[in-house]
Amino acid sequence: MSFDQLAPHYRWMETVLAGPLLHRCRTRFVSELAAARQVLVLGPGRSRFTQAVLQSAPGAHVTLLDSSRAMLERLERDLEASGVSTGRVTFVHGDVRTWSAPPVSFDAVTTHFFLDCFEPAELDVVVERVAHWTAPGARWLLSDFQVPAQGWRRQRARVLHAFMYTFFRTTTGISARSVTPPDPSLHRAGFRLVSRDISNHGLLHADLWVRASHVKPAGNRQPQMAAGYRT
Ligand SMILES: C[S@@+](CC[C@H](N)C(=O)[O-])C[C@H]1O[C@@H](n2cnc3c(N)ncnc32)[C@H](O)[C@@H]1O
Repeated sequence: MSFDQLAPHYRWMETVLAGPLLHRCRTRFVSELAAARQVLVLGPGRSRFTQAVLQSAPGAHVTLLDSSRAMLERLERDLEASGVSTGRVTFVHGDVRTWSAPPVSFDAVTTHFFLDCFEPAELDVVVERVAHWTAPGARWLLSDFQVPAQGWRRQRARVLHAFMYTFFRTTTGISARSVTPPDPSLHRAGFRLVSRDISNHGLLHADLWVRASHVKPAGNRQPQMAAGYRT
């Protein structure tokens, strides 16, 4: 199982279920990429965010890494259909947990609705791996779902999360059973939170993180491969 089966349906499902909400989160801090030279988009799926990156970062090369070949193929077709040149784009079919990154330092990384695919131990390893592909001062833009601390907003989020995780675990085989806040992993990996925008009654957050100048050397931690993933 993978995201391949979802690829044909991804855009209309998002439009019907979430309207413009998710895209607003993805693009909340995209202007931060204006001066970027090397941007790594992890798990781009078929969202229109890639188009926004190409517009907002006119001098950047953009690497798109996704473990779903169908998502990448459809994304390429979507870009071409909207008249967007893919001359500055490298499409990589691979898994973030095993990918051998090229010898460039990325000055920006984006993970929209991506980190919530991983269970806690895996998330920590993924964030640490990605941090070592970045340059000092690198931006990390991310959007994810979250569960508010209390009240009816918490109950509402719990119901929606239960539905989403059941759906994504069944259709794609993701390892996560619930959302894990990425903050501790990002702090450990040397990033600090610069800005966070919370929306939809606390259900969504869009973040801007920046890497401190120093990140501790890579350890020997190996990611645990979850059942159901292709490598
Ligand atoms: C929930 S979708 C989000 C897509 C897009 N970023 C968005 O905002 O709609 C997660 C995407 O990450 C990809 N993905 C999931 N696990 C991955 C992994 N281990 N390595 C690379 N890509 C992965 C999936 O194929 C899918 O395209």
